[in-house]
Amino acid sequence: MNKSPYEVIADEDVIASSDVVWHKHAVSHAERVDAKGHRPCVLWFTGLSGSGKSTIANAVDALLHAHGAHTYVLDGDNVRHGLNGDLGFSDIDRVENIRRIGEVSNLFVDAGLIVLTAFISPFQSDRHQAREKLPEGTFFEVFIDTPLSVCESRDPKGLYKKARKGEIKHFTGIDSAYEAPELPDIHIKTANRSVETCARDVISALMDKGIISTSMEKNNGAL
Ligand code: ADX
Repeated sequence: MNKSPYEVIADEDVIASSDVVWHKHAVSHAERVDAKGHRPCVLWFTGLSGSGKSTIANAVDALLHAHGAHTYVLDGDNVRHGLNGDLGFSDIDRVENIRRIGEVSNLFVDAGLIVLTAFISPFQSDRHQAREKLPEGTFFEVFIDTPLSVCESRDPKGLYKKARKGEIKHFTGIDSAYEAPELPDIHIKTANRSVETCARDVISALMDKGIISTSMEKNNGAL
Protein backbone atom coordinates (compact mmCIF):
# COMPACT_ATOMS: atom_id res chain seq x y z
CA MET A 1 0.00 0.00 0.00
CA ASN A 2 1.27 3.50 -0.82
CA LYS A 3 2.61 5.56 2.06
CA SER A 4 0.78 8.75 2.86
CA PRO A 5 2.61 12.03 2.10
CA TYR A 6 2.88 12.64 5.79
CA GLU A 7 4.50 9.25 6.42
CA VAL A 8 7.05 9.83 3.64
CA ILE A 9 8.05 13.10 5.24
CA ALA A 10 8.32 11.48 8.65
CA ASP A 11 10.72 8.91 7.17
CA GLU A 12 12.87 11.63 5.62
CA ASP A 13 12.95 13.95 8.60
CA VAL A 14 15.37 13.62 11.45
CA ILE A 15 13.22 12.24 14.27
CA ALA A 16 13.80 14.33 17.39
CA SER A 17 14.17 11.29 19.64
CA SER A 18 14.85 7.69 18.73
CA ASP A 19 12.22 6.81 21.35
CA VAL A 20 9.54 8.42 19.18
CA VAL A 21 8.14 5.76 16.87
CA TRP A 22 5.89 6.54 13.90
CA HIS A 23 2.37 5.17 14.38
CA LYS A 24 0.83 3.97 11.14
CA HIS A 25 -2.74 5.11 10.44
CA ALA A 26 -5.38 2.41 10.06
CA VAL A 27 -7.01 4.39 7.21
CA SER A 28 -4.60 4.99 4.30
CA HIS A 29 -4.09 8.31 2.52
CA ALA A 30 -5.45 6.78 -0.71
CA GLU A 31 -8.61 5.69 1.10
CA ARG A 32 -9.10 9.19 2.50
CA VAL A 33 -8.62 10.79 -0.94
CA ASP A 34 -11.03 8.30 -2.57
CA ALA A 35 -13.75 9.36 -0.13
CA LYS A 36 -13.50 13.03 -1.18
CA GLY A 37 -14.11 13.15 -4.93
CA HIS A 38 -11.30 15.66 -5.53
CA ARG A 39 -7.54 15.74 -5.14
CA PRO A 40 -6.05 17.26 -1.97
CA CYS A 41 -3.77 20.27 -2.24
CA VAL A 42 -2.61 23.50 -0.62
CA LEU A 43 -3.55 26.80 -2.18
CA TRP A 44 -0.85 29.00 -0.68
CA PHE A 45 -2.11 32.60 -0.98
CA THR A 46 0.65 35.18 -0.63
CA GLY A 47 0.52 38.97 -0.91
CA LEU A 48 0.76 42.20 1.03
CA SER A 49 -1.45 43.01 4.01
CA GLY A 50 -4.73 44.30 2.57
CA SER A 51 -4.09 42.67 -0.83
CA GLY A 52 -7.23 40.51 -0.54
CA LYS A 53 -5.70 37.13 0.33
CA SER A 54 -8.23 36.20 3.02
CA THR A 55 -11.20 37.65 1.15
CA ILE A 56 -10.43 35.78 -2.08
CA ALA A 57 -9.41 32.60 -0.23
CA ASN A 58 -12.77 32.66 1.59
CA ALA A 59 -14.66 33.26 -1.66
CA VAL A 60 -12.87 30.28 -3.27
CA ASP A 61 -13.57 28.24 -0.13
CA ALA A 62 -17.29 29.06 -0.30
CA LEU A 63 -17.51 28.02 -3.97
CA LEU A 64 -15.65 24.77 -3.36
CA HIS A 65 -17.65 23.96 -0.23
CA ALA A 66 -20.97 24.57 -2.00
CA HIS A 67 -19.93 21.93 -4.52
CA GLY A 68 -19.09 19.29 -1.97
CA ALA A 69 -15.31 19.75 -1.73
CA HIS A 70 -13.72 19.26 1.68
CA THR A 71 -11.78 22.42 2.45
CA TYR A 72 -10.34 24.54 5.23
CA VAL A 73 -8.94 28.07 5.42
CA LEU A 74 -5.91 28.85 7.57
CA ASP A 75 -5.67 32.59 7.99
CA GLY A 76 -2.77 34.64 9.41
CA ASP A 77 -4.90 36.90 11.57
CA ASN A 78 -6.73 33.90 13.10
CA VAL A 79 -3.85 31.45 13.47
CA ARG A 80 -1.84 34.15 15.21
CA HIS A 81 -4.48 34.14 17.98
CA GLY A 82 -3.97 30.44 18.67
CA LEU A 83 -1.31 28.07 17.33
CA ASN A 84 1.07 30.96 16.55
CA GLY A 85 -0.01 33.28 19.36
CA ASP A 86 3.55 33.30 20.70
CA LEU A 87 4.99 34.79 17.49
CA GLY A 88 5.53 38.42 16.47
CA PHE A 89 6.72 40.02 13.24
CA SER A 90 10.51 39.84 13.45
CA ASP A 91 12.06 37.99 10.49
CA ILE A 92 12.76 35.00 12.73
CA ASP A 93 9.16 34.84 14.00
CA ARG A 94 7.76 35.12 10.47
CA VAL A 95 9.95 32.20 9.38
CA GLU A 96 8.61 30.10 12.27
CA ASN A 97 5.05 31.23 11.52
CA ILE A 98 5.32 29.90 7.96
CA ARG A 99 7.17 26.74 9.00
CA ARG A 100 4.33 25.76 11.34
CA ILE A 101 1.70 26.53 8.72
CA GLY A 102 3.59 24.34 6.24
CA GLU A 103 3.46 21.47 8.74
CA VAL A 104 -0.24 21.96 9.48
CA SER A 105 -1.01 22.18 5.75
CA ASN A 106 0.78 18.89 5.26
CA LEU A 107 -1.56 17.27 7.81
CA PHE A 108 -4.61 18.66 6.01
CA VAL A 109 -3.34 17.31 2.67
CA ASP A 110 -2.73 13.95 4.30
CA ALA A 111 -6.35 14.05 5.48
CA GLY A 112 -7.41 14.61 1.84
CA LEU A 113 -8.55 18.24 2.07
CA ILE A 114 -8.02 21.30 -0.07
CA VAL A 115 -6.43 23.76 2.34
CA LEU A 116 -6.31 27.46 1.59
CA THR A 117 -3.63 29.39 3.50
CA ALA A 118 -3.74 33.18 3.68
CA PHE A 119 -0.48 34.51 5.12
CA ILE A 120 1.67 37.37 3.87
CA SER A 121 4.54 34.82 3.81
CA PRO A 122 6.93 37.52 2.61
CA PHE A 123 10.06 35.43 2.05
CA GLN A 124 10.63 33.30 -1.07
CA SER A 125 12.77 30.80 0.85
CA ASP A 126 9.99 30.06 3.37
CA ARG A 127 7.40 29.52 0.65
CA HIS A 128 9.89 27.30 -1.13
CA GLN A 129 10.39 25.24 2.04
CA ALA A 130 6.65 24.85 2.48
CA ARG A 131 6.46 23.57 -1.11
CA GLU A 132 9.32 21.14 -0.48
CA LYS A 133 7.50 19.67 2.54
CA LEU A 134 4.49 18.74 0.43
CA PRO A 135 4.17 15.93 -2.09
CA GLU A 136 4.80 16.81 -5.75
CA GLY A 137 1.77 18.42 -7.39
CA THR A 138 -0.03 19.36 -4.18
CA PHE A 139 1.36 22.86 -3.51
CA PHE A 140 0.11 25.83 -5.54
CA GLU A 141 1.44 29.31 -4.85
CA VAL A 142 -1.34 31.84 -5.45
CA PHE A 143 0.03 35.36 -5.80
CA ILE A 144 -2.56 37.97 -4.84
CA ASP A 145 -0.94 40.75 -6.78
CA THR A 146 -2.14 44.10 -5.46
CA PRO A 147 0.20 47.12 -5.61
CA LEU A 148 1.30 48.58 -2.28
CA SER A 149 -0.38 51.90 -3.16
CA VAL A 150 -3.75 50.12 -3.56
CA CYS A 151 -3.33 48.12 -0.31
CA GLU A 152 -2.40 51.32 1.48
CA SER A 153 -5.39 53.20 0.12
CA ARG A 154 -7.71 50.35 1.20
CA ASP A 155 -6.04 50.07 4.63
CA PRO A 156 -8.97 48.02 6.03
CA LYS A 157 -7.49 47.73 9.53
CA GLY A 158 -5.82 51.16 9.66
CA LEU A 159 -2.44 49.42 10.02
CA TYR A 160 -0.64 51.19 7.13
CA LYS A 161 -1.50 54.54 8.69
CA LYS A 162 -0.04 53.40 12.00
CA ALA A 163 3.05 51.94 10.26
CA ARG A 164 3.67 55.26 8.40
CA LYS A 165 3.50 57.07 11.75
CA GLY A 166 6.03 54.59 13.17
CA GLU A 167 3.50 53.14 15.62
CA ILE A 168 3.96 49.62 14.15
CA LYS A 169 7.49 48.44 13.42
CA HIS A 170 8.54 45.88 10.78
CA PHE A 171 5.39 46.38 8.74
CA THR A 172 5.49 44.50 5.44
CA GLY A 173 5.93 46.84 2.48
CA ILE A 174 6.87 49.77 4.72
CA ASP A 175 9.91 48.79 6.77
CA SER A 176 9.94 45.03 6.21
CA ALA A 177 10.46 43.33 2.85
CA TYR A 178 7.96 41.51 0.66
CA GLU A 179 9.55 39.20 -1.91
CA ALA A 180 6.97 38.74 -4.66
CA PRO A 181 6.75 35.28 -6.28
CA GLU A 182 8.71 35.09 -9.52
CA LEU A 183 6.75 32.21 -11.03
CA PRO A 184 3.52 31.73 -9.08
CA ASP A 185 1.36 28.74 -10.00
CA ILE A 186 -1.68 31.02 -10.04
CA HIS A 187 -1.33 34.79 -10.56
CA ILE A 188 -4.30 36.96 -9.59
CA LYS A 189 -4.17 40.71 -10.25
CA THR A 190 -6.87 42.29 -8.14
CA ALA A 191 -6.81 46.01 -8.99
CA ASN A 192 -10.18 46.94 -10.60
CA ARG A 193 -11.40 43.32 -10.52
CA SER A 194 -14.17 41.93 -8.30
CA VAL A 195 -13.62 39.31 -5.60
CA GLU A 196 -16.01 37.00 -7.51
CA THR A 197 -13.95 37.28 -10.74
CA CYS A 198 -10.69 36.63 -8.88
CA ALA A 199 -12.19 33.62 -7.07
CA ARG A 200 -13.50 32.20 -10.36
CA ASP A 201 -10.00 32.48 -11.86
CA VAL A 202 -8.66 30.33 -9.02
CA ILE A 203 -11.46 27.76 -9.57
CA SER A 204 -10.63 27.59 -13.30
CA ALA A 205 -6.97 27.04 -12.47
CA LEU A 206 -7.92 24.18 -10.12
CA MET A 207 -9.90 22.55 -12.92
CA ASP A 208 -6.98 22.97 -15.36
CA LYS A 209 -4.69 21.34 -12.82
CA GLY A 210 -7.06 18.40 -12.30
CA ILE A 211 -7.66 19.10 -8.58
CA ILE A 212 -11.41 19.38 -9.06
CA SER A 213 -13.49 18.23 -12.00
CA THR A 214 -16.46 19.70 -13.81
CA SER A 215 -18.47 16.69 -12.59
CA MET A 216 -18.56 18.39 -9.17
CA GLU A 217 -21.13 20.71 -10.70
CA LYS A 218 -23.82 18.02 -10.46
CA ASN A 219 -24.03 18.61 -6.72
CA ASN A 220 -24.97 22.26 -6.95
CA GLY A 221 -25.13 23.74 -10.45
CA ALA A 222 -22.10 24.75 -12.50
CA LEU A 223 -18.94 25.58 -10.63
S1 ADX B 1 3.53 36.80 7.97
O1 ADX B 1 4.38 37.86 7.43
O2 ADX B 1 4.12 36.18 9.18
O3 ADX B 1 3.14 35.81 6.94
P1 ADX B 1 0.74 36.93 8.71
O4 ADX B 1 0.02 36.72 7.41
O5 ADX B 1 0.84 35.78 9.65
O6 ADX B 1 2.20 37.57 8.43
O7 ADX B 1 0.01 38.13 9.51
C1 ADX B 1 -0.23 39.33 8.83
C2 ADX B 1 -1.37 40.11 9.48
O8 ADX B 1 -0.98 40.54 10.77
C3 ADX B 1 -1.64 41.36 8.66
O9 ADX B 1 -2.71 41.17 7.76
C4 ADX B 1 -1.98 42.40 9.71
O10 ADX B 1 -3.37 42.37 9.97
C5 ADX B 1 -1.28 41.93 10.96
N1 ADX B 1 -0.01 42.61 11.29
C6 ADX B 1 0.29 43.12 12.52
N2 ADX B 1 1.55 43.62 12.53
C7 ADX B 1 2.08 43.41 11.29
C8 ADX B 1 3.35 43.70 10.69
N3 ADX B 1 4.32 44.30 11.36
N4 ADX B 1 3.54 43.37 9.38
C9 ADX B 1 2.54 42.76 8.70
N5 ADX B 1 1.33 42.45 9.20
C10 ADX B 1 1.08 42.78 10.49
